[in-house]
Amino acid sequence: MSRSAHPAGPRHADVLPEGHYSAPPADLNALDPKVWAQTVSRTQDGVVSVGGLDVKALAEEFGTPAYFIDEADFRARARAWRTAFGHDADVFYAGKAFLSRAVVQWLHEEGLNLDVCSGGELATALSAGMPADRIAYHGNNKSTDEIRTAVEAGVGRIVLDSFQEIARVAHIAQELGTRQRVQIRVTVGVEAHTHEFIATAHEDQKFGIPLAGGQAAEAVRRALQLDGLELVGIHSHIGSQIFDTSGFEVAAHRVVGLLKEIRDEHGVELPEIDLGGGLGIAYTSDDDPREPHEIAKALTEIVNRECEGAKLRAPRISVEPGRAIVGPTAFTLYEVGTIKPLAGLRTYVSVDGGMSDNIRTALYDAEYSVALVSRTSDAEPMLVRVVGKHCESGDIVVRDAFLPADLAPGDLIAVPATGAYCRSMASNYNHALRPPVVAVHEGRARVIVRRETEEDLLRLDVG
Ligand code: LLP
Repeated sequence: MSRSAHPAGPRHADVLPEGHYSAPPADLNALDPKVWAQTVSRTQDGVVSVGGLDVKALAEEFGTPAYFIDEADFRARARAWRTAFGHDADVFYAGKAFLSRAVVQWLHEEGLNLDVCSGGELATALSAGMPADRIAYHGNNKSTDEIRTAVEAGVGRIVLDSFQEIARVAHIAQELGTRQRVQIRVTVGVEAHTHEFIATAHEDQKFGIPLAGGQAAEAVRRALQLDGLELVGIHSHIGSQIFDTSGFEVAAHRVVGLLKEIRDEHGVELPEIDLGGGLGIAYTSDDDPREPHEIAKALTEIVNRECEGAKLRAPRISVEPGRAIVGPTAFTLYEVGTIKPLAGLRTYVSVDGGMSDNIRTALYDAEYSVALVSRTSDAEPMLVRVVGKHCESGDIVVRDAFLPADLAPGDLIAVPATGAYCRSMASNYNHALRPPVVAVHEGRARVIVRRETEEDLLRLDVG
């Protein structure tokens, strides 16, 4: 029997059988650079460090559980994406992966743009000084208040997701006496995950307007007629945790087909195409993500080739990586609380966090790695399941992993590649206090999102 796997998890078609686990790694003390942030290493005394600071000292100062983000790594990855796409393309970091004011400042300094998908994300971006014209606003059901705030702020683009929204944004922009730059999000009938994609004629999902049945063409027709809108491009986002560009190839082919139709019908060549995000990262040593420069080269070639074939001027490309920038740059640090060996099965290791700080394992059957980081050990490997402290048996952080058999309460363990969609999807389940995010850089650590307190919880509970 196969374990169920959510498309947003790292594995889709390639599902592990129930009870499967790979052989223990040759060296349990080794830290695979594929899954750990750039500045992570073991110090001489065996303690793991990040940004020059050891995790025992960090745990002492900031407590556990906590997310530690390697600022140098974040900046390097952001820069690598920016450089890979050059001046003829734009990189919009997808804020849903993880957004805070410090992150907005890093992005601004590294020359990236920002994709937001809620009023809260927009407020964070603006309050940290991201110029509004470098912000793209997404969402399948933006409220009129959100639209008004975005238009008033002067966001660079709103990505229109439905026929109602075309009318709504046009109306609000006109009321405010402006013309809003917009793209239309289309669904191209491509669903891509990991090494696989499925191309179909129509899409059964809530996002975007289908190309199928001429619906996207009709949306373009309407948008071009409305005074409040300046239609600048077409947007497509095909999936999550993608390692292969063949799904983008089909998407680009279909989007360029629409651009050609628009040119033929309206005599307008739209200047922009956005291919969305979804590029994969390594959660375990088995994953092999591609480098930004390879992706940039492949996507640019695909779009240029398709446009040449359609005799269109090549539009300006943009992409929206979230996970691929922030995912690998952080790890979650936990303290081991209890250890429960179940004879003939596995050992349950309970940590002081769980599904409230990483819902991805429970929600998507996502896979993670884990390591003992407060010391080294020469003990034999033991098969473990790392679980949290929540009142639910599905509260699993790492389903199958190996840790040294001498693991003991009080040891610190860390789960790498938790930068994306962990803090941003964190909850207060069981009134858990959401952990802080601590940025570590060149020997200095600073809290960029503080730990919640019981006072924070009680402040919302007005009795
Ligand atoms: N652009 C659009 C329009 C999107 O919908 C998304 C993600 C992205 C960009 C960024 O995708 P990324 O490069 O980060 O994969 N919570 C799930 C992922 C949901 C992604 C939704 N949209 C997870 O934890 O895997």
